Amino acid sequence: MTIATKIEEAGFKPASRIAAIGVSKILQIGARAAAMKREGLPVIILGAGEPDFDTPDNVKAAAKAAIDRGETKYTALDGTPELKKAIAEKFRRENGVDYSLDEITVATGAKQILFNAFMASVNPGDEVIIPTPYWTSYSDIVEICGGVPVLIPCDADAGFRLKAEQLEKAITDKTRWVLLNSPSNPSGAAYSEADYRPLLDVLLKHPHVWLMVDDMYEHIVYDGFKFVTPVAIAPKLKDRTLTINGVSKAYAMTGWRIGYAGGPKALIKAMAVIQSQATSCPSSVSQAASVEALNGPQGFLKERQASFKHRRDLVVSGLNAIDGLDCRTPEGAFYTFAGCGGLIGKTTPAGKVIETDADFTDYLLEVAHVAVVPGSAFGLSPYFRISYATSEAELTEALKRIAEACGKLT
Ligand SMILES: Cc1ncc(COP(=O)(O)O)c(C=O)c1O
Repeated sequence: MTIATKIEEAGFKPASRIAAIGVSKILQIGARAAAMKREGLPVIILGAGEPDFDTPDNVKAAAKAAIDRGETKYTALDGTPELKKAIAEKFRRENGVDYSLDEITVATGAKQILFNAFMASVNPGDEVIIPTPYWTSYSDIVEICGGVPVLIPCDADAGFRLKAEQLEKAITDKTRWVLLNSPSNPSGAAYSEADYRPLLDVLLKHPHVWLMVDDMYEHIVYDGFKFVTPVAIAPKLKDRTLTINGVSKAYAMTGWRIGYAGGPKALIKAMAVIQSQATSCPSSVSQAASVEALNGPQGFLKERQASFKHRRDLVVSGLNAIDGLDCRTPEGAFYTFAGCGGLIGKTTPAGKVIETDADFTDYLLEVAHVAVVPGSAFGLSPYFRISYATSEAELTEALKRIAEACGKLT
């Protein structure tokens, strides 16, 4: 059921721009799992899109100091000079890319960056190429902005990565953007420099196509994976690339709502037009906290990475030990995206045939009391996503229950 149908039932006629947008499966599952928990069932929810760590103390202290200094008013429209400077320095230090302050924008989360960028650049019918599985917000935001998401399936055998031939084939006169996310939510797959190069070569041949990259999980990578952002590999693409990042995941600051991007001046200016009529500016206190996050000590990132890696290994090996499941080892982020194709066609003890990944995740919720998200919510089936940003004890218990539930399928 779409939001539109649901709202219309209540006697309200929604705008056509949201008519095609469905209620997020992730939210539906979350709501159902929470309701079951309230009924007293021991539900384990493996759906969180945020680290289970706390915001670092130095960042909290910087926010308190900003309040005490009276930095509680509107700020410059798309970011304080202090934060833009810290972002420019971050891009130079960590990515080897130079952005001047007027090539940087700050918003209320990377989500608003995406929204500003598409609102500012997409006309009705413009196409945005998005490899699947994708973070669900991508296609919904593109649609709200009147664009057409062009979804390209990239399965586990392809490492969940887009290939140059697929990109070449998908580009049309109407293509406005290609949107890449590395490491990816939901697959955890990341593009190495060698993975990126052929894609960037394709883009160099098509000057009308712009590149949007979402580097949100840059700091959560494993096994020595070398994170790289496309502009560092192909500087010629800098004048048509938007490099998106934020403090939410690396610094455990999801609630502070600060995202940022570097890109061509004209686009950054157009994005500010949208932001000026949406939020006026990002939160002053959160911006001060983000300056400290980016300029302050970075040592804890490695410790947190090690903790996530431990949990990734636990989940990947636990899932691969279950007949019918197949889990690729992700390079980054805190998600696994395991295939459940081996269980499609099997029958539950209640006599229901598992026909889709959503049937499988419904079964896990009902029988194992474990809430995970089906691949269909991310545009690729038959898979399911686990967020392992939770305690090892919960993960171990969840894996035990998933194994038992799968063992009962015939
Ligand atoms: C790939 C990706 N990009 C962006 C975001 C949004 O981050 P923010 O909290 O900065 O809006 C998320 C959040 O889940 C994400 O998974």
